[in-house]
Amino acid sequence: MTAVVMDGNGLRDEIVAGLRNRIEAENSPDICLATVLVGDDAPSQRYVRMKHKKASEAGLTSRHVDLEATATQAEVESVVRGLALDDSVHGILVQLPLPDGLNPEPVIDLIPPKKDVDGLTERSMGRLVRGRPGLVGCTPLGVMRLLERYDIETSGKRAVVIGRSTLVGLPLSLLLARKGVDATVTMAHSRTADMAAVVREADIVVGAAGQARMITADMIKPGATVIDVGVSRTEDGIVGDVDYEPVSDVAGWITPMPGGTGPMTIACLMENTLTAAQLQGAFPA
Ligand code: GUN
Repeated sequence: MTAVVMDGNGLRDEIVAGLRNRIEAENSPDICLATVLVGDDAPSQRYVRMKHKKASEAGLTSRHVDLEATATQAEVESVVRGLALDDSVHGILVQLPLPDGLNPEPVIDLIPPKKDVDGLTERSMGRLVRGRPGLVGCTPLGVMRLLERYDIETSGKRAVVIGRSTLVGLPLSLLLARKGVDATVTMAHSRTADMAAVVREADIVVGAAGQARMITADMIKPGATVIDVGVSRTEDGIVGDVDYEPVSDVAGWITPMPGGTGPMTIACLMENTLTAAQLQGAFPA
């Protein structure tokens, strides 16, 4: 079997174009995404640049605050406090991880839930747990959009999410188990015993562990959907959690890397910024 490749770039372009049409049709005042980057990590700088490029294509405005790696906790918090109070800013994203020595938790706590385009605040996470509408993290949302686009059946299916991060694994597991999606979800992680046996049960496998090529072809049930969220920097360059070529001979659907979940994260960030503007009454609901 050769898997259908789930084209994240194509779907991102459609989502971005759709947002642009909605924004132009409303002729609304500027909707602004603000990003904060601390330090000079090159991949993080690239991700942030891409976020601004796509914001512009989506018809959003954007603002960026760059802080030196030597910034103090108080300086980072002060920047986020300022953006929180600024009515012309509708979405705030603090690029993670922060450099060693900085604690992201109190920084995230300063983001007003209505501007929380990463879905990381206690309020956003709490709403997700309680099944109430709210802002949901861009990567988990992007994975759900890909499953929808490719008509992947979820109801009653076995989903295994490898990784339990607050950014991806945890919220995605909740989304997959939600009423209406109805997958039977296993959240696996670095301490899971016999990972291969657990993954072999899955109709939908999501690698979100950041372990290079840990998901191998022998672990995949023929015809399964395999979604790669992992990003590892290796000597061979950036690779995902999925051993792509052999796995694509067994799977039914697979996300490429790059070009799968990465672009979807960006598309959903733009979507979340518009949703945030709606929550703030800055764009018609
Ligand atoms: N670093 C890697 N992915 C993300 C993301 O989705 N949001 C933030 N804030 N930082 C990240």
